[in-house]
Amino acid sequence: MGGFQTVRGTRDLLAEDAERQRFIIDTARKTAELYGYEEVITPIVESYELLNAKSGEEIRQRLFIIEDNGPVGHRKIVLRPEFTASIARLATTTLRNNPKPWRIFSVGSVYRYDEPQRGRYREFWQSNFELMGSNKPEADAEIILLTNRLMRAVGLHKYEFKLGHVGILRAILSAEGIDEPTQNAILQRMEKKEYDAALELIQNCRCRQRFQELINLRMCDPFMADPSLSVERIKTIVRSYEKASRETQNLSEILNLVKQSGCRIKTVDPAFARGLEYYTGMIFEVYIPELDIALGGGGRYDRLIEAFGGEPTPATGVAHGLDRIVLAMQMQKATPTTAWRKRVAVVPVNDALKCEALKISQILREAGISAELEVMGRKMNKAMEDADRRKVNYAVIVGERELKQGAVVLRNLAKREQTTIEISKLAKTIIG
Ligand code: HAM
Repeated sequence: MGGFQTVRGTRDLLAEDAERQRFIIDTARKTAELYGYEEVITPIVESYELLNAKSGEEIRQRLFIIEDNGPVGHRKIVLRPEFTASIARLATTTLRNNPKPWRIFSVGSVYRYDEPQRGRYREFWQSNFELMGSNKPEADAEIILLTNRLMRAVGLHKYEFKLGHVGILRAILSAEGIDEPTQNAILQRMEKKEYDAALELIQNCRCRQRFQELINLRMCDPFMADPSLSVERIKTIVRSYEKASRETQNLSEILNLVKQSGCRIKTVDPAFARGLEYYTGMIFEVYIPELDIALGGGGRYDRLIEAFGGEPTPATGVAHGLDRIVLAMQMQKATPTTAWRKRVAVVPVNDALKCEALKISQILREAGISAELEVMGRKMNKAMEDADRRKVNYAVIVGERELKQGAVVLRNLAKREQTTIEISKLAKTIIG
């Protein structure tokens, strides 16, 4: 047994898992294309300062920090824990002069020092969509709708959206003069559903009662079962706060647009908050009933680009957790709908024919057929056993007698039938 293991919280994805992962990536990329998002590839490492600035305590505590060997002393760099900060960095530099909106797609691995458990890893994959330059509810609706498309296209048949709006909560707190760091602390408690601790931070504040009512609302069945009802109730609770009322109207418009487009929102949770600190408006997450961890989440962050030194630029976005989508697909028995790939083993009957076998493999590959040449020098029956074990569909047997007539033997391994066939017709016959 080898002595080395993968680093805690990381995994090797072997053939089947890698194929599932690739299928989701392809589907996310197709979704990006359909919605007009351009793909960018950013570095896996970013400066510590970028991530330290605005991600929030949740992410800050989970950064993988590396010290590089700079000539003037060590600098801190981090493995990216998400894409949003990197894309916001781009927005302040390279993208700056491009006409808006900017629709940006990225996919890749991200790193967080999370406590590993099912669906929670230290290295995981995200597909990430950012829509920058629009403060309109239709931009937020688009982000939810493309998530809906992705979930459906990977074959999930039951999934649920939860919607909230931190803009409403922040508007109330700001109106009461509560500073941003305290607001962040309150939202952090709410994210963890530590409502008493959140209320404690506004113990002597006029808005405590309003917060209590919003928290109570999330426990209240009829409202939670009907998102529109929930929004109407929020409107009543926050009516004495002008900005919070406008933010509730914004939530109502987003909900309406999404609903009209045929995507169902299961709940509007008025006390919903997310771990990242940069959110300023609508937030959402998507779940399957079988798992209590989110498959994806996002929201509006109108001040991040400005905080990084760019022009004030409203923005909204989402990241999908690919590893969790794989889990969800397994749980709901959703199979990748990739075209069935025919696999062919090409086996020379003796060593002298290996060059001919290689040439035939090349002919098959040129025709788009996956051909695996026998490179172990095994005897025919051993090579056939191996092809069977690996669920190869056909074997092409290259023998002297057939070659003299420009032909080979094509064996259908599942049906256990074989025919002699001209090499010029081989690819066409396999493709069928
Ligand atoms: P997030 O909610 O931190 O948001 O992550 C998005 C998704 O990544 C989660 O819903 C989950 O599926 C997956 N995820 C998070 N942590 C782990 C983990 N330890 N193991 C496996 N999967 C995980 C963001 O990252 C924001 N940047 C989303 C965004 C984009 N907001 C605006 N634009």
